[in-house]
Amino acid sequence: MSHTRTSELNAVAQAGEWLAGAQSVVALTGAGVSAESGLPTFRGAGGLWRNRRPETLATPEAFAADPKTVWEWYDWRRSVHAGCSPNPGHHALAELERAKLEFWLVTQNVDGLHEQAGSRRILKLHGDLWKVRCLTCGREERDTRVPIDPLPPYCSCGGMLRPAVVWFGESLSEETLRAAFDAAARADLVLVLGTSSVVYPAAALPRVALERGARVIEINLEPTELSGVAHLSLRGKTGELLPEIVRRAFGGAP
Ligand code: OAD
Repeated sequence: MSHTRTSELNAVAQAGEWLAGAQSVVALTGAGVSAESGLPTFRGAGGLWRNRRPETLATPEAFAADPKTVWEWYDWRRSVHAGCSPNPGHHALAELERAKLEFWLVTQNVDGLHEQAGSRRILKLHGDLWKVRCLTCGREERDTRVPIDPLPPYCSCGGMLRPAVVWFGESLSEETLRAAFDAAARADLVLVLGTSSVVYPAAALPRVALERGARVIEINLEPTELSGVAHLSLRGKTGELLPEIVRRAFGGAP
């Protein structure tokens, strides 16, 4: 067995041991967790749409200037997401929630795959791709039409609907954010999964936990801004490593 393989197994075993012993766990997820379900991440290859970066589409200014184009991007994302299912990483997180008394899943993802896998204690920092909000009356409701036609869609009050997601330059829900930071401050273990850890305030959560003495375990295909300060930084796919870590912590097949 190669040295790399041995140290990888040791790291997985260590992560399993820490997870088994933790009282209060927070998992922070990003687009990488859904990559194995076939969804493109934001910053990797395949993250672009019609050669445009998400940062130029996911803004209130872009929507005000050209709601149809921004809606076309969301409609495209909804159609891609609609054909995807949760992967073993999502299922392992649902299993983890069932195994721990104190657990919060804080996600930056808007795809709905965590709920589909059975997770319930979810704090959605960036909103929900399957909800729309009226710009006039403010009503928010679930909308699972794929495709939406015509675009942009309108509310029954006559106002224009927008995706109920957080755009660049907008504030996150204060209530959700407070709950996420409270959970991170209470946690003795934080798992940081499939996120580039560059978008704040989400990226601050593991750092708050670190300051409070929590252990931080990262799983990512590549090194990130967090890798240097995490107690363990595992290189690999969440859909492969996480089920193994959960299995080691709680036994059985997740
Ligand atoms: P990114 O696209 O920035 O990062 C995805 C990360 O997942 C990268 O670090 C990859 O290396 C890693 N990755 C990819 N496949 C993986 C796998 N199978 N297993 C483990 N890691 C994998 O996505 P986020 O960090 O989620 O915000 O981006 C944060 C926010 O920026 C998003 O929520 C979105 C975006 O703009 C808003 O829309 C407000």
